[in-house]
Amino acid sequence: MWAELLPIGRSSASGGYRRFAWTGADADCRAWFRQQAEARGLAHEVDRNGNQWAWLGDPAEGNAVVTGSHLDSVPDGGAFDGPLGIVSAFAALDELRAGGASFTRPVAIVNFGDEEGARFGLACVGSRLTAGQLTVEQAHRLTDGDGISLPQAMEAAGHDPDAIGPDPDRLARIGAFVELHVEQGRALDLSGDRIGVASAIWPHGRWRFDFRGEANHAGTTRLADRRDPMLSYAETVLAARREAELAGAVATFGKVAVEPNGVNAIPSLVRGWLDSRAADQESLDTVVGAVQKAARDHAAAHGVDLDVERESFTPVVEFDHALRDELARILGSDTDLKVPVLGTGAGHDAGILSGRIPTAMLFVRNPTGVSHSPAESATEDDCVAGVTALADVLEGLACT
Ligand code: GLV
Ligand code: MN
Ligand code: MN
Repeated sequence: MWAELLPIGRSSASGGYRRFAWTGADADCRAWFRQQAEARGLAHEVDRNGNQWAWLGDPAEGNAVVTGSHLDSVPDGGAFDGPLGIVSAFAALDELRAGGASFTRPVAIVNFGDEEGARFGLACVGSRLTAGQLTVEQAHRLTDGDGISLPQAMEAAGHDPDAIGPDPDRLARIGAFVELHVEQGRALDLSGDRIGVASAIWPHGRWRFDFRGEANHAGTTRLADRRDPMLSYAETVLAARREAELAGAVATFGKVAVEPNGVNAIPSLVRGWLDSRAADQESLDTVVGAVQKAARDHAAAHGVDLDVERESFTPVVEFDHALRDELARILGSDTDLKVPVLGTGAGHDAGILSGRIPTAMLFVRNPTGVSHSPAESATEDDCVAGVTALADVLEGLACT
C-alpha cells in the first residue's frame, strides 16, 4: 500500500507532501483509497461532504465500528500524518479477515476530506460539515489563496457542492470511531512505548492578523515617515512567543502574506496567521488576548491599522472515557504492557466527532516527534505494532 501511496503529491524539491483538498493530488489519493476498498470487496461510498467510506457489512444495521483518518497534508507535510491511520486500517482488517474473524458489527474505514485545512484555512472541513459544526453558508464562504471558493473547487473535482451539509443519519449509524495516528510529539519515545491511547486534545484555534500600513519606496522614504506593518507584525510574533512561554502554551505564526511583496517596497499589508493551543481554555484566552493587545499597541506605535479575525476554534476535547478504557484494557491484556494514555496539542477528526459519537485514538511512536514536516517518521516495527494494536481493538469491539 505504501509503495503506491508514497509518490502521490510528493514534492521532489522538499521531499514533503502537498496533498491539498480537491486538487489533483487529492484526487489521486482518493482513487488509491477506492482501489484499496474495491480490491478487498468493501463497499465504497463518497458521502455528501466528500468523505470516503469503505464498508464491511451493512451500514444500515447501525452501531458500526469505524476507523481511519485522512490523506490530505499540510504544505510539505510528512508521509504519516493521516495516511498511517488509513493504511493501518486496511492492514488491520486484512489481518482479522485472514485469521477468520467473525464480525458482529459493521466495520468501516474512512478517509475524511480536508483535515489539515491547508487550502481553505479551516481544518477538519469534512468532519465539521458532517457533525454540523460548520454551516453550509460558512463553508460556501471559504476561499483558497487564489480566490477559488470551496464549492468551486469541489465542483471542479467532480463533487456536487450543493450536497454538503450535516449528516446526522450517518453519525447515528456509528457506535465508535477509533483513529490511529502517528504521534506528533515525543511522549512515547521518552516513555519507551510503541503505542499510546489518547486522553484529550488541547483547545486550539487560528486567528488572522491584518496589519495595514502604507506602501512606499524602500530607498527614499525616511524611517520617521514610514507606516511599516512589517515592524508591528515582527513585534507581534515575538510577543506570541513570550506570552506562550509565560502561560505554558504554544503560539505559532507559521503563515504570512505580504503585499505588494517587493524587495524594495515598504509593505502595505502584512497578513499573519496565529495558531495557538493550550492545555485549558483559560490559558489559551490569556495568550491570545495578550498577543492581540501587543499587536494593537505595536500597530498604534507605527501608525498601522490592525484587524484580527478568529478563523477557527476547537474547544478542549476529552475522549470518551468508556471507549478509551476499553481500548487500554484490550491492548493491556494482549501485550501485558500498560498502555500510556496521552494528551495532545494536535487537532483530529476524532476530536470533532467526539461531541456526537464515542471516539478514541491510538498513537504510534514517532522517534523524533517531528511532524508537519518531511522529516516526520515512524519505524516499520512500530507501524506493524500499530496495525496489530488496531486489529486487536477492532476484534475486541466488533468480533465475537
Ligand atoms: C492538524 O494536524 C493540526 O493539529 O493542526
Ligand atoms: Mn496534521
Ligand atoms: Mn492528522
